[in-house]
Amino acid sequence: MFAIDYTDPGTPASKQAKQVTVEIDGRAVTVPQGTSVMRAASSLGNQIPKLCATGSLKAFGSCRLCLVEIEGRKGYPASCTTEVAEGMKIRTRTEKLDQLRRGVMELYVSDHPLDCDTCPGNGHCELQDMAEVVGIKESRYSMGGATHANAAKDVSNPYFAFDPELCIVCSRCVRACDEIQSTLALTIDGRGFDSKVAASQSESFVDSECVSCGACVEACPTAALSEKSLIALGQPTRTVTTTCAYCGVGCSFKAEVQNEQVVRMAPNRDGHANQGHACVKGRFAYGYATHPDRIVKPMIREKITDPWREVSWEEALGYAAAQFKRIQAKYGRDSIGGITSSRCTNEETFLVQKLVRAAFGNNNVDTCARVCHSPTGYGLKNTLGESAGTQEFESVMHADVIMLIGANPTDAHPVFASQMKRRLRQGAKLIVLDPREIALVRTAHIEADYHLQLRPGTNVALLNSIAHVVVTEGLAKTDYIAGRCEEDSWRKWQAFVSEPKNSPEAMQEVTGVPAELVRGAARLYATVPNAAIYYGLGVTEHSQGTTAVMGIANLAMATGNLGREGVGVNPLRGQNNVQGSCDMGSFPHEFSGYRHVSDDTVRAAFESAWGVTLQSEPGLRIPNMFEAALDGTFRALYIQGEDMAQSDPNTQHVQAAFSAMECIVIQDLFLNETAKYAHVFLPGSSFLEKDGTFTNAERRVSRVRKVMEPLGGLADWEVTQRLANELGYPMNYRHPSEIMDEIAALTPTFAGVTYEKLDRLGSIQWPCNAEAPDGTPTMHVGQFVRGKGKFFRTEYVPTQERATSRFPLLLTTGRILTQYNVGAQTRRTHNVVWHHEDRLEIHPHDAEARGIAHDDWVGIASRAGETVMRAEVTERVQPGVVYTTFHFPESGANVVTTDNSDWATNCPEYKVTAVQVVKVNQPSQWQQRHRELTERQRIQRRSRAGHV
Ligand code: SF4
Ligand code: SF4
Ligand code: SF4
Ligand code: FES
Repeated sequence: MFAIDYTDPGTPASKQAKQVTVEIDGRAVTVPQGTSVMRAASSLGNQIPKLCATGSLKAFGSCRLCLVEIEGRKGYPASCTTEVAEGMKIRTRTEKLDQLRRGVMELYVSDHPLDCDTCPGNGHCELQDMAEVVGIKESRYSMGGATHANAAKDVSNPYFAFDPELCIVCSRCVRACDEIQSTLALTIDGRGFDSKVAASQSESFVDSECVSCGACVEACPTAALSEKSLIALGQPTRTVTTTCAYCGVGCSFKAEVQNEQVVRMAPNRDGHANQGHACVKGRFAYGYATHPDRIVKPMIREKITDPWREVSWEEALGYAAAQFKRIQAKYGRDSIGGITSSRCTNEETFLVQKLVRAAFGNNNVDTCARVCHSPTGYGLKNTLGESAGTQEFESVMHADVIMLIGANPTDAHPVFASQMKRRLRQGAKLIVLDPREIALVRTAHIEADYHLQLRPGTNVALLNSIAHVVVTEGLAKTDYIAGRCEEDSWRKWQAFVSEPKNSPEAMQEVTGVPAELVRGAARLYATVPNAAIYYGLGVTEHSQGTTAVMGIANLAMATGNLGREGVGVNPLRGQNNVQGSCDMGSFPHEFSGYRHVSDDTVRAAFESAWGVTLQSEPGLRIPNMFEAALDGTFRALYIQGEDMAQSDPNTQHVQAAFSAMECIVIQDLFLNETAKYAHVFLPGSSFLEKDGTFTNAERRVSRVRKVMEPLGGLADWEVTQRLANELGYPMNYRHPSEIMDEIAALTPTFAGVTYEKLDRLGSIQWPCNAEAPDGTPTMHVGQFVRGKGKFFRTEYVPTQERATSRFPLLLTTGRILTQYNVGAQTRRTHNVVWHHEDRLEIHPHDAEARGIAHDDWVGIASRAGETVMRAEVTERVQPGVVYTTFHFPESGANVVTTDNSDWATNCPEYKVTAVQVVKVNQPSQWQQRHRELTERQRIQRRSRAGHV
């Protein structure tokens, strides 16, 4: 029988330093003060029977199964709610205790079906286990009394069901929703026999405030809350520890598997990033991996108007290699390039950039991080010396103030958002800088102390005015700055931000934020012991994205908020491996570990290891590739795991560039939007089908482990390797661990990373090397990586994208909890129950002025293009600002966004597009063309597959 390899200590660990020694059943044990008797016993391997207690939740003391005897005390206290005291003598097994426990258990069993053999929880149920432990098979009380038999089930949630008949009203689900997830969607309704679990105001789960994180299901000791997959498939037979392939939190999971089928994804209680928690995407939305839309046979076609032809791997790879060679022979070595994927593993990403540099012989490699966090890399490298966030997630539990800038963690980084909410509920203060009222501004038990609701595109102006207050009101930490920062840069920056033009009063016209709010927020941030900044794409995806990142680093240095727990500058990375794809040398100007290609020593090391001569000039960035394609000099592209035709801005420009190329090779799971322009399709493999590593937003490298064989026969790294060999450049890795060994040998920050160490430690935060053999949770301790921190002048330069009479509204974009990026994965799961289309959020005033009502179809026009979607009239956005998500290709959100970009990195300005919005009754011309093309390709594919 499959069993969970987990010993539940019953209550959370105490963090107190003082130690206490007690005697339990004649054995002495020393534990931290504040430890429960139950946990102390567990540390001796003595599991006291329990039902309402679990190690992830505070003790509650309701089931009375965990009673113990304590010398000198009357009665039988509950061991879960009783803390140890020095010298305490405890007995956990006596005849009297056994008798009391049997009585308690009999009462539970009297109102519980005894058909364990057919129950989905069989072998997985704590009630079943405890009944066996206390020796109860049936109840004396079960004859004829009232029971909850046949109570109506709630099966409304697509992923889990609630069966009240199996519920023992232990309240673990309610407490999990409160203490772990912080959504507080559940309550126990009624009293005594009538008590029952209720979602929100006794609504169905799907209609309630529940966000389907699964914490309640995980906490439930019976099968009352069960995954539908478990009910359908039965118990798993093995587990594989792996890492979520969605967002940059990088949650660890135990995939519970039956043969090669995932029965459930259980959040790993030992996972360093998630500590046993998960969100609806990683926990439940994995069905895309086996969706019938998966393309599992390689395909080629000469022209994009031809139907696809299924071919062998040999033919597809041979054809792709021949095309690349032909094009290079005709147009030159630099006429082709490659795109690495932030969804693929570090090892796969490293191989793609190696393929481009060593086999293509140029530096034309770029990655989707270009369009999200490239300003983070540039901005933090220049100010602090390292292109990555400074903390581990746990650090937020030491923050007194959290400043959240342009990030929406409850939707985009949900597990970290829950941790942040826990800290806020402990009393930390919250400052939100966002044009939109994100959920954290006001949610259950949380209200932001300041919401600086700035106009899109004015981050730098607002950051400068915050810095102005810090400097001019004498709040800067001058000792810290004197010891750790470049004096000259500090002096110049100090003088710059002190200029009257940067004061909150002068800037409020620009930002739209009242000066007194800015002053209050600045004082709060600068005067607490620990203040931490967390930021997202609302900072980077601007024409001044890099300037804003530098402004954030300036602010943190000026207030001494770097180099210890509870502080820092923390970019919340979007995709699962966006940190890793940057670390692995995916940018055209640098090798792994952020070393410039012009550095002769570094280049020589790669040349020696790879046996080739490498270019010393940076290659083309993604936007340059598009321009060169339209100019006719860039003719072929290898794209691994990236749907640029949907995700990149100004879709029509991207489509034109793709149409101008002679050979596009796509490696992906599905025939995505980019595949419409492709000539070779190589089946990709999902995270369940391969070994490797991902690196999350904390710089945490975690193992991805194979659960099932690749549906197409090859893991992504094997495909790249075979393509390199076809091109005449030999690659002969037998396992991704050998690729990691090469990464470690060539990359100082990864020098100490091995698969053996990852297996041993669970995960490692780079830098991991001789100085930090187990990794580095906090960066810049003692001194900055670059030596002295450097302040950069951050002059506010307004974006060219301004509201005009023709385009009077500013469009900004973002994500929603249940969908992920271009939606290729989540659209192929039950998550569409919650979000099946992108909508345009518009303020009631703007809607009324245009005669637009909720649900109306509206046309959104910018100077780049037009699209149509449904309106959502809401005060979440301020007047003059509209907002949408970009998860559905037919919405065409990026048809509207422009090709404005960050001055330093070309990261697109997704967050500011001047638009007009009008009520319409038909799709835009682009949407009509898109539908026709989609339909034509669908028919071609079905006819080739013999379906019509
Ligand atoms: S649903 Fe499960 S966790 Fe919730 S009260 Fe019932 S038995 Fe306890
Ligand atoms: S799934 Fe998560 S949000 Fe929903 S009720 Fe359970 S714990 Fe609460
Ligand atoms: S928070 Fe992110 S990494 Fe964690 S389960 Fe959700 S999507 Fe996956
Ligand atoms: S486990 Fe202690 S009272 Fe339930």
